[in-house]
Amino acid sequence: MTLQIKNLEEYNEAYKHSVDDPEGFWAEQAETFKWMKKWDEVLEWDFKGPDVKWFKGGKLNITENCLDRHLEDRADQVAILWEPNDPKADVIAYTYKELHEAVCKAANALKANGVEKGDRVCFYMPMVPELAIGVLACARIGAVHSVVFAGFSSSALADRIKDATCKMVICSDYNHRGTKNIPVKNVVDEAIGMGCDSVETVLVHKNTGADIAWNDKLDKWWHDEVDNQSADCPAEQMDAEDMLFILYTSGSTGKPKGVVHTCGGYMVYTCFSFKNVFQYKEGDVYWCTADIGWITGHSYIVYGPLLAGATTMMFEGVPTYPDAGRFWEICDKHRVNQFYTAPTAIRALMAQGDEYVDKYDLSSLKVIGSVGEPINEEAWNWYNQKVGRGNAPIVDTWWQTETGGILISPLPGITDTKPCYASYPLPGVQPVLLDADGNLIEGNDVEGLLCMKFPWPSILRTTYGEHERCRQVYFSSFENMYFTGDGARRDANGRYRVIGRVDDVINVSGHRMGTAEVENAINEHDNIVESAVVGYPHDIKGQGIYAYVITNHAITDEEAFRKEIKAVVTKMIGPIAKPDMIQIVPGLPKTRSGKIMRRILRKVASGKSDELGDTSTLLNPEIVEAVKEGAAALKKG
Ligand code: WTA
Repeated sequence: MTLQIKNLEEYNEAYKHSVDDPEGFWAEQAETFKWMKKWDEVLEWDFKGPDVKWFKGGKLNITENCLDRHLEDRADQVAILWEPNDPKADVIAYTYKELHEAVCKAANALKANGVEKGDRVCFYMPMVPELAIGVLACARIGAVHSVVFAGFSSSALADRIKDATCKMVICSDYNHRGTKNIPVKNVVDEAIGMGCDSVETVLVHKNTGADIAWNDKLDKWWHDEVDNQSADCPAEQMDAEDMLFILYTSGSTGKPKGVVHTCGGYMVYTCFSFKNVFQYKEGDVYWCTADIGWITGHSYIVYGPLLAGATTMMFEGVPTYPDAGRFWEICDKHRVNQFYTAPTAIRALMAQGDEYVDKYDLSSLKVIGSVGEPINEEAWNWYNQKVGRGNAPIVDTWWQTETGGILISPLPGITDTKPCYASYPLPGVQPVLLDADGNLIEGNDVEGLLCMKFPWPSILRTTYGEHERCRQVYFSSFENMYFTGDGARRDANGRYRVIGRVDDVINVSGHRMGTAEVENAINEHDNIVESAVVGYPHDIKGQGIYAYVITNHAITDEEAFRKEIKAVVTKMIGPIAKPDMIQIVPGLPKTRSGKIMRRILRKVASGKSDELGDTSTLLNPEIVEAVKEGAAALKKG
């Protein structure tokens, strides 16, 4: 069994072991899994390439470890517990045996439709069990899944399908969200119309049953293809370093990149981190509220929990339907033991008032987690008192799409907790702080750029089709370091607090947005000459999107114009990227070499116009006054 640390002494011991002898430490963990062939070498690495290989030569299939391995002792235990959007609709439970069967059937359906090992399959689906089943079915046959969050627009979906040249798209007809039925298949149709020539089949899961357009050449129903398949599908033998999935994420420049994770290391690390961070015990019910469209859903709804033989819950709906007590009602109803959500949800629910949480019995909760963005002290305290009731430690987990799993987090009941601190690295994780010149900042009570000096098993291996970009973005800033893009503080006790991005990435409600990406979308509007997007503090979302735009010709109806800009962004990326504030400016402050001075724009957007410092060396210092005045006027409304 994967090591589960029980006390501080064991943590210290495991951490020391993992640093003194990483290969020995991770080999011990890896040995607890089922391998078709054992690895020849535990680790080979070089951050220059980068070229990282864990468990080289090892052969496995991750689904054998998620499913088959559990059939002997937990066949009838619930693997996936699904809570529908409508609180009155039926809960669906898949036992390990049933999930195994469902995955094998779906895997056979993929094969019957020409999907082979190494082919890419795109998912664009709401949070229904078929999403988890489909993802596992890909892994079963060695196809690579690329899940796209179903809130992205058709244009964003098309970009991702094309980048990965997906052979198949799996979607639903519609998505139940609160009181709404949101079209899903329709968005896929639009995307296909944008030149996704690689797609041979669109597999449609009937979710709401409402009408959809049908294309006989491409479209097939999930139930027609899957239901009559055999429930026997031998697991494909995969190399430890074969691709398991691609997941697109935003960076500071250019289009989103496809982060690539591979089979062996990802398996070992997600299981290890799940068991330790959540201290999952036999019989517990674990619930992560994320969407499988994000890395949190991949690692801590699907893979980590299933590898550990846990009961993992999937929720179809939204936190505010039918009211702001829904999360707590579900925790009470299913006697949830570990609950994992995002600060933005905590802040939004906190704002609705305590009566929604106070009326439920939350005594089953043993651990409550936070992920995706820094959690502010007020939200931390509310979460601790109102949800944890002072009895369930908060695990503020820091990690990234690129890290595959949680790297820094308290271990509940084992290491202490402190508001806003993700605190200590997990075994195998070696964080360092650097200054801008790459000098190591030693000692405690210091601040710097957060880097990792040694690989952990689930570190990204590349960005799909763009290895050089991967090197540039993560491994070129500092020699022999993985650079996270985050700034962090280390307190007097060596705990880490991650403050936020130091690059041009904005974290909106825990969703990563590249400023360049949003600017490119805004620039699609006919009347835009140039735009600049920055983040600013937002009470609920953590960060909001603030856009400065220069127009071609004067605007008479500003309100209508702002709506148009939002519509363009929704069309190009999706509603999550809509700017919260749009300021029309006569120009943008620039350096003499023509670079936009984002530092100034960030200060103005954050209401700190009086902290701009010396702006006289700008190319156009006069523009700063105009930007400041415009911002003040916009704020007044
Ligand atoms: C931020 C989400 C502070 C951080 C798993 C990181 C956090 C980015 C935390 C990755 C946390 C995530 N405290 N900041 N506990 N967790 N972040 O790829 O800026 O969607 O770089 O992965 O979210 O976001 P991603």
